[in-house]
Amino acid sequence: MPTVLSQSHLPGLDLIHRGKVRDVYAIGAGELLIVASDRLSAFDVVLPDPIPGKGEMLTQISNFWFGKTAHLVPNHLTGRKVADVLPPGTDVALYAKRSVVAKRLKPVPVEAIARGYLIGSGWKDYQASGSLCGIKLPTGLRQAERLPEPIFTPSTKAAVGAHDENVSFDHVVETIGADLAEQVRAATLAIYSFAAAYAAERGILIADTKFEFGTDASGKLYVMDEMLTPDSSRFWPADQYRVGISPPSYDKQFVRDYLETLNWNKIAPGPHVPGDVIAGTAAKYAEALQRLAGIVVD
Ligand SMILES: Nc1ncnc2c1ncn2[C@@H]1O[C@H](COP(=O)(O)OP(=O)(O)OP(=O)(O)O)[C@@H](O)[C@H]1O
Ligand SMILES: [Mg+2]
Repeated sequence: MPTVLSQSHLPGLDLIHRGKVRDVYAIGAGELLIVASDRLSAFDVVLPDPIPGKGEMLTQISNFWFGKTAHLVPNHLTGRKVADVLPPGTDVALYAKRSVVAKRLKPVPVEAIARGYLIGSGWKDYQASGSLCGIKLPTGLRQAERLPEPIFTPSTKAAVGAHDENVSFDHVVETIGADLAEQVRAATLAIYSFAAAYAAERGILIADTKFEFGTDASGKLYVMDEMLTPDSSRFWPADQYRVGISPPSYDKQFVRDYLETLNWNKIAPGPHVPGDVIAGTAAKYAEALQRLAGIVVD
């Protein structure tokens, strides 16, 4: 059975950040304990009901990809055991599968997005301008169409309450410098291309995905946070893929569809979600974990 955790409680550890999904603790000067909770956010609002096991599944999917792509781009994992940094008396089983001990990095202030298909904000921007993040695309592309090649479409990390905004590569160069910008673009496309090919063999198309990068004291670049999960990516079952429509995904579409049936204004607090929607959402994460990483949730 998966464990359920809405909010971590680790007395004695230094909580430095509670994100929408992850609670982050400082471990000494150079490391972090990152705990993925079962919180579900939709439309940028954290919903009151947890999805049992979600944090464990997210962490296992990320860890799988960090391992698979370590030959392409170094990542933030230290390999240290979670149990070794938990305060005495902690229920280790509750934290072990949902947490990692990571190198504490300086975040690169860019959402590093790779797209292989034209959907979401990419499709919107293309319809309005024929281009995406300053990249001119062929005319006549349709919704969800596969791009001639994967592209790097960075966006700004928006302040709380605001939505991220697509920006050009030149804008990224102005923000972080040409050298780091080139490295981030190359790393993003290398990981995406590798993962997209790997997933396609397992019946999943990765339409797009977002990475976060960080640098260490010497300026070396690492991929950090989460990687190629249903929360950070659009996964499409290949057998249901059609050009011209928005294909169903493995992500939070299930819960979003339910929320769209309500009269909710998408401002916190979010509504309670019925049990079948919670179970259905958990099943989506389990399916992604099984199909990609071959890990079966008990
Ligand atoms: N190795 C690392 N070094 C430093 N920061 C990291 C590292 N890995 C992840 N983070 C940061 O930890 C946080 C994880 O929290 P979470 O994913 O829940 O945040 P979020 O909801 O996406 O965004 P926000 O933090 O704005 O709420 C992010 O701010 C992420 O940038
Ligand atoms: Mg995040």
